[in-house]
Amino acid sequence: MNPAKLLLNTLLFFQFSQISTSIDTISLSQPIRDGNVIVSSRKFYALGFFSPGNSVKRYVGIWYNQISEQTLVWVANRDNPINGTFGVLSVNIKGNLELYESNQSTVPVWQANISDASTGNSVAQLLDSGNLVLVRNDTGETLWQSFDHPTDTLLPNMRLGWDKRTGFNRYLTAWKSPDDPGSGNFSFKMDLAEFAQVSLYKSDVKWWRAGSWTGQRLSGVPEMTRNFIFNITYMDNQDEVFVYYSLNNPSILSRMVVNETGFQQRFTWSTQDRRWIGFWTAPKEQCDYYGHCGPNSNCSPYHADEFECTCLPGFEPKYPKEWSLRDGSGGCKRKLGTSKCQKGEGFIKLTRVKVPDTSVAAHVDMNLGLKACEEKCLGNCSCVAYASAYAETNGGIGCLIYHGDLNDTRTYTNAGQDLFVRADAAELAAEAQKNSKSNRARKRRLALIIVAIVLGVLLLGLCYFFLWRRLDTRIGERKRQRRRELLFLNSSTRLSDREASTSAKRNKDTGNVDVTFFELSTVLAATDNFSTSNKLGQGGFGPVYKGKLATGQEIAVKRLSTTSGQGIEEFKNEVLLIAKLQHRNLVKLLGCCLEKDEKMLVYEFMPNKSLDYFIFDESRKQLLDWKKRFDIILGIARGVLYLHQDSRLRIIHRDLKASNILLDEEMNPRISDFGTARVFGGEEISTNTNRVVGTYGYMSPEYALGGLFSTKSDVFSFGVLLLEIITGKKNTGIFNDDSSNLIRYVWELWSDDKALEIVDSSMADSCPAPEALRCIQVGLLCVQDRTTDRPSMSTVVFMLSNETSVPSPKQPTFSVRKIEIDTDYSSTGTKSSVNEVTLTTFKAR
Ligand SMILES: *[C@@H]1O[C@H](CO)[C@@H](O)[C@H](O)[C@H]1NC(C)=O
Ligand SMILES: *[C@@H]1O[C@H](CO)[C@@H](O)[C@H](O)[C@H]1NC(C)=O
Ligand SMILES: *[C@@H]1O[C@H](CO)[C@@H](O)[C@H](O)[C@H]1NC(C)=O
Ligand SMILES: *[C@@H]1O[C@H](CO)[C@@H](O)[C@H](O)[C@H]1NC(C)=O
Ligand SMILES: *[C@@H]1O[C@H](CO)[C@@H](O)[C@H](O)[C@H]1NC(C)=O
Ligand SMILES: *[C@@H]1O[C@H](CO)[C@@H](O)[C@H](O)[C@H]1NC(C)=O
Ligand SMILES: *[C@@H]1O[C@H](CO)[C@@H](O)[C@H](O)[C@H]1NC(C)=O
Ligand SMILES: *[C@@H]1O[C@H](CO)[C@@H](O)[C@H](O)[C@H]1NC(C)=O
Ligand SMILES: *[C@@H]1O[C@H](CO)[C@@H](O)[C@H](O)[C@H]1NC(C)=O
Repeated sequence: MNPAKLLLNTLLFFQFSQISTSIDTISLSQPIRDGNVIVSSRKFYALGFFSPGNSVKRYVGIWYNQISEQTLVWVANRDNPINGTFGVLSVNIKGNLELYESNQSTVPVWQANISDASTGNSVAQLLDSGNLVLVRNDTGETLWQSFDHPTDTLLPNMRLGWDKRTGFNRYLTAWKSPDDPGSGNFSFKMDLAEFAQVSLYKSDVKWWRAGSWTGQRLSGVPEMTRNFIFNITYMDNQDEVFVYYSLNNPSILSRMVVNETGFQQRFTWSTQDRRWIGFWTAPKEQCDYYGHCGPNSNCSPYHADEFECTCLPGFEPKYPKEWSLRDGSGGCKRKLGTSKCQKGEGFIKLTRVKVPDTSVAAHVDMNLGLKACEEKCLGNCSCVAYASAYAETNGGIGCLIYHGDLNDTRTYTNAGQDLFVRADAAELAAEAQKNSKSNRARKRRLALIIVAIVLGVLLLGLCYFFLWRRLDTRIGERKRQRRRELLFLNSSTRLSDREASTSAKRNKDTGNVDVTFFELSTVLAATDNFSTSNKLGQGGFGPVYKGKLATGQEIAVKRLSTTSGQGIEEFKNEVLLIAKLQHRNLVKLLGCCLEKDEKMLVYEFMPNKSLDYFIFDESRKQLLDWKKRFDIILGIARGVLYLHQDSRLRIIHRDLKASNILLDEEMNPRISDFGTARVFGGEEISTNTNRVVGTYGYMSPEYALGGLFSTKSDVFSFGVLLLEIITGKKNTGIFNDDSSNLIRYVWELWSDDKALEIVDSSMADSCPAPEALRCIQVGLLCVQDRTTDRPSMSTVVFMLSNETSVPSPKQPTFSVRKIEIDTDYSSTGTKSSVNEVTLTTFKAR
C-alpha cells in the first residue's frame, strides 16, 4: 500500500475510532451491549451485534472494520439468534464468555465452552488476525479462541483440520441463507485418513473433493498456488493434521468461504474497485462434482463432443445402457475374465490426474520412492494403483497405494500428477497396441490428407482450366448453381428445421443464448456485397466488413476463409459455444451466417475503432489520459482472465494485440478475435503446434521459437500490450535500431530507476507515479522469458487492482527480433512458415 495513503487512512481511522470506541477487550467489568462494538488494536476487525440481510434477529459476529461492505467472518450464536436488541456479551464470574438475551436473562443463548470454567478472571480480546481469544489474565493461557470454531470463513492463519489427540476437528459450515447465518447444509472439512484430504460435503455426502496435499496445493484446486500473495502450509504429524494459508502482505484482505449454495470461493478485496474479487470458485465443472463418473472411471472434460467419463484400464461400464446415454454415475466394474495377481502384470500410467479418494482404502509410506512404490503395489494382490504421495515436492516423494475402488479421478490440462493403475498382461498388450495404432493411424491420416490435397488442387486446376475454356459460361453457371443448391439443402436440413428463411432466434439446447442465423442475402445487403469501402480490416482468419442491417443496427462481419477443415455441424456447435462467452470486455457475437461455402461471424459494431488507432497516433493519443488507459489495461486483463479461467471453454487467445482491442462508445476495451482460434482447429490448443500464428512483436519466446503455447503466452502478449499502452510506442517500428525493442527499452529505464520516463508524454501530467510504476512492473513481469516466472492472469488482475507490492521482474534475456510469418492461419497450411528467427542476448549491464 502506498505509505502516504496508509498513514492517512490510519489517521482518519484513529480520529474516528476515538469517538466510537477504543477498546478491544471484553471482561467481567466491561461487557458489551447491543450497539457497542469492540475493535482490534490496529482496527482491522470489529466485533459486535448485527442483523444479516433482511433478518431482524440479532447475532454477535466479527467483521472487517475497514471496508464499507459489512463482511462477516465469524458468528457466535449462529444457531441461536437473539430476539430483541438488549443482548449482552460478557465474561462471567467463572471466566467464561457468555451471551445473554438481556441483562435479566439467566440462561445464556450462547457460551464459549471452556474445559475448566472455574479459573475466573479471564479476558476476551479481539486480535488483529480476526481471532477472538479468551485468556486467563494471570497466566495468559488461552482458554478458548474463535479460530477453533470457524463458521463459513477461513481467514489467514486459521487452521482447517484435526487435533488427532483429542479428536477435535476444525471445519467450515456454510450459512443457511444470506439472511440466516445458521449452520447450513454444506461443510468443508478434512477427512481424517492415513492420507488426509479435504472435502466439501452436502449434509453427509461428499459434494466436491478439494483433495489431498501435493506438496504445493490441494490436488483438486489447481488455482491454489504458493505465490507472492499466498503461502500455503500443510502439516501432518502424529498429533495434528491441518492446512492453513497466510498472506505475505498483511495489508491484503483475503478470505475463503463456503457459500450457501455449495461453492468454495476465495475472495480478495480490491481497493481500486471497492469490492470483493473472486480469485477462484469450486466446484467449477461437471468433473469436479464427486462421483460424477462413479467408481473406477476417469472424468476428462476437455473433449468437446465426447462423453467425459471413461473407465480406467481393466474396467468396463457397470451399467452399459446408462453409460451409452451419457450417465456415468454408475461407474465401472472390473472386466469379466481379468486375471488378478498373475504373471505379466504391470501398470498403465494416467497423466495429469487428481488422485482418487484417499479416505477409505489408501495407504501411504513417505519413505518409499516411486520405484519401490511400484514394487510394493505389485507385491500385494489387493493393491490396484499407486502414485507419488507429495507429487509436487522435489519432483515427487512418498508412496501412495490404493486398495478397493478408485473413486473420483479426473484429468486436468495444466495440473495433476501421474497415477499408475494395475493392469493384467492382456490389458497391457491392448494398451500398447492402441498407442502404436493411434500413432500409425495419425501418420497415415496425415499422409492421406496431404496426398488428397495435392491431388485435389491439381485436379481442380485442370478441370477448371478446361471447363472454363470450353463450356458455354451460361450452362456452366447454371450447373454450378444447381450443385450449390444441392449442397446447401444438404447442410441446411441439419441446421435444425431450416430457420434460414429469415434470421431466426434459436434457444433450443443452448441455454439462454440467442444465436441468430443470418441469411447470406441479409449479410450481402448489409455489407453492400462486401464492398471494399466497407472493409474494416483484415483479421487473422479473414477480412472484416462493416454492415448495417435493415433495422439500422450496425454490425461487423468477419468472413472466414473457407478452408477451416470443419464440418457444418461442428462449426455450428462452436458458434453456439462462443456465443455463450459473455463479458463486458469481449466483443459480443450476434450470430453467424452459414450458406453455400460461406462461413461468417457477425459481431456488434464498435464505433471507436481499435486501440492502435488511438495510442499510436500523435494527436489521437491525447484523448486517452492516464485514468482511461489504466481502465483499458484493467479491462483487457479482466477479459483475458475470463477467457482463461472463468468461461467454460478455457480459451487461449493467441493473438492479443492493440488492433484486436476494440473500443466501445465509452472507450471500454473489448477484446475481439477470441474464439476464432477455436473455430479453426480448436484441438490444437492443448498441444504444441508446428505452425506459429500470431503477430510479430507480441509473441512469447517459447511460442515463436518452439510453437509452445499456453495461457502464459497470452500473458506475454498482454505484457507487451500494457507497455505499449503506457508508452504510446509500438513494440515494432519506431525503433530503427534493429537490436533494440520496446521491452529492452522499458527494462533499461526501469532498472535505472527512470521508469517514469517511459510514460507517454501526452499523459504524463495525469499520471500518478506509484500506480504507473506498479503497472510498468506488472508489464515487465508478464514479459519474462520463463513461463513459470510470468504471473497468471488472475494474479495480474489482482496486482493491477490492488495497491499491493509487486515482485521484481527478472531481466528478459531474449528478444525475438525478426520473424517473418504468414499471419493468415486460414490458408491451407503449406504456405505458412517461420522464415527467420533471430535471437539476441541482452548484455547485463
Ligand atoms: C425468539 O422468538 C422465537 C419466536 O418468537 C422463539 O421461538 C425463540 O425461542 C426466541 N428466542 C429466544 C432466545 O428467546
Ligand atoms: C438492564 O438494562 C436496562 C436497559 O438496558 C437498564 O436500564 C438496567 O439498568 C440494566 N440492569 C442492570 C442490572 O444492569
Ligand atoms: C458447548 O457445549 C455444550 C454441551 O457440551 C454444547 O451443547 C454446545 O453446543 C457447546 N457450544 C459451543 C459454542 O461449542
Ligand atoms: C485480573 O482480572 C481481575 C478482575 O477483572 C482483576 O481484579 C485482576 O487485577 C486482574 N489481574 C491481573 C494480573 O491483571
Ligand atoms: C438442506 O437440505 C435439506 C434436505 O435436502 C433441505 O430440505 C433444506 O432446504 C436444505 N437447507 C438449506 C438451507 O438449503
Ligand atoms: C510460508 O509459511 C511457512 C510456515 O509458516 C514459513 O516457514 C515460510 O517461511 C513461509 N514462506 C514464505 C515465502 O513466506
Ligand atoms: C455461491 O457461489 C456461486 C459461485 O460463485 C454463485 O454462483 C452463487 O450465487 C453463490 N451463492 C450465494 C448464495 O451467494
Ligand atoms: C496387502 O495390503 C493390505 C492392505 O494394506 C494388507 O492388509 C495386506 O496384509 C497386504 N498383503 C500382503 C500379502 O502384504
Ligand atoms: C467408492 O464409492 C463407492 C460408492 O460410490 C463406495 O461404496 C466406496 O466405499 C468408495 N470406495 C472408496 C475406496 O472410496
